[in-house]
Amino acid sequence: MKKLPKIELHLHLEGGAPPAFIRGLARDKKLDISGIFNEDGSYRFTDFWNFLKVYEAACTTLQNPEDFRRLTLAVLEESAASGVIYSETFLSPDFCGGRDLGAWREYLLAIREAADEAERSMGITLRGVVTCIRHFGPEKARETALCAAETAGDFITGFGIAGDEKVGAPKDYLWSFDCAREAGLRLTAHAGEWGGPDSVRAAIRDLGVERIGHGVRAIEDLALVDEIAERGVVLEVCPGSNVALGIYPTFRAHPIGQLYDRGVKVTVSTDDPPFFHTTMAREYDMLNRAFDWDEGVFATIARTSLDAAFCDADTKAKLARKLEAADA
Ligand code: ADE
Ligand code: ZN
Repeated sequence: MKKLPKIELHLHLEGGAPPAFIRGLARDKKLDISGIFNEDGSYRFTDFWNFLKVYEAACTTLQNPEDFRRLTLAVLEESAASGVIYSETFLSPDFCGGRDLGAWREYLLAIREAADEAERSMGITLRGVVTCIRHFGPEKARETALCAAETAGDFITGFGIAGDEKVGAPKDYLWSFDCAREAGLRLTAHAGEWGGPDSVRAAIRDLGVERIGHGVRAIEDLALVDEIAERGVVLEVCPGSNVALGIYPTFRAHPIGQLYDRGVKVTVSTDDPPFFHTTMAREYDMLNRAFDWDEGVFATIARTSLDAAFCDADTKAKLARKLEAADA
């Protein structure tokens, strides 16, 4: 499974930070965040809401563009080792200079420097999707959207929303999504992870997104599943994340198989891989075992993911050639 070329559309950059990397930064800066780690060094959290707190505590160690340059390299190294050839990664101005546009530009420069280096040395391509954080509220989301709009282009290709789905409603963030849309950014939103089918409906209807982060709980309403399939809305499914956070007990019980069989455009991603003890290669392995998915299914998923990627046509053509070479 490691060798199959993979396209990943849903990875939070800070969520990809290996715990040892965060511990190293904490040591250098004399920050005591020992409470967020287990004795074996892994991240410690009890549920999704505690995970968000641990995530934000880990982010306090990421304090300057150089930290993000190194983080980006570390994350891309892991992804490339799993066979990922293209990664569309969520970037958060909240954690990159507190949504100040000047600071954000500097962080972005450092992230792009790492991306260029990774492309040269590992053959992996990175693009960014700026995300606002729902539980930080609509006001901060507007500042985030302005950062996204001002830096939209060949590298920043999209805008999205992550964080606690139980806070507020998608329509509270409409100004931000309209701002991003007007700047030419493509749109995605986390929904149907902690919210039910109505949360997915609201994200599609009220924000006009073309992709949904997770979206798996649409399975609780088959009319919605059929609507998603008909409209061609793409789901960024992260099975290992959903199992680790307890939404489903096992891969076998995860609805990705049913969604795929019903004609939904499903893609596969890791979300926050070290937090959930996963990698893209492991996701593929677990799906192979749970649903007997073979290389043909994974080739279809890679193609769906490439079609749904927010990057430009030239980048897609280059990636398509890599997928075709592997198929041959
Ligand atoms: N931020 C990082 N991981 C997340 C997830 N799984 N859901 C919502 N927000 C997140
Ligand atoms: Zn996510």
